[in-house]
Amino acid sequence: MSEAILVLNGPNLNLLGTREPDIYGKATLDDLRAATMAQAKRHGLTADFRQSNDEGELVDWIQDARNTAAGIIINAAAYTHTSVAILDALQACGKPVIEVHLSNIFKREAFRHHSYVSPAATGVICGFGPQGYVLAVDAMADLLTKVKTP
Ligand code: DQA
Repeated sequence: MSEAILVLNGPNLNLLGTREPDIYGKATLDDLRAATMAQAKRHGLTADFRQSNDEGELVDWIQDARNTAAGIIINAAAYTHTSVAILDALQACGKPVIEVHLSNIFKREAFRHHSYVSPAATGVICGFGPQGYVLAVDAMADLLTKVKTP
């Protein structure tokens, strides 16, 4: 039976492809979705890939994941740097979490250097563009295998 990974994308990531392409590249959110789903399939996993501009909706989805997902990959976008609510939801979820960013947030403005998501994450992947989502799926597959075989 395949296991579902919840892949969450925060605000403004729906604009990928046209949004500051010098920073975020030309790939669209649909391109990221396709690459993520394909990589999940290679591992025998499924991916539920979502985007919201709404912090509360992201919190609701993380809460639902307690019963529906094996793990969460999250690019919380700007909420990374502001949202205690998303941190609390991730910590309450009890599932493995991997944090992803397209850009290298540590090479950018100082306010992007702090992440409220990181304390809930097993690991962080940033700076590799869309490939980061593929790497995150690989890392999640590895984490889920370890969960099954202690
Ligand atoms: C981002 C980095 C954030 O600082 C920014 O607010 C985003 C995207 C990234 O993927 O590089 O919206 O999470």
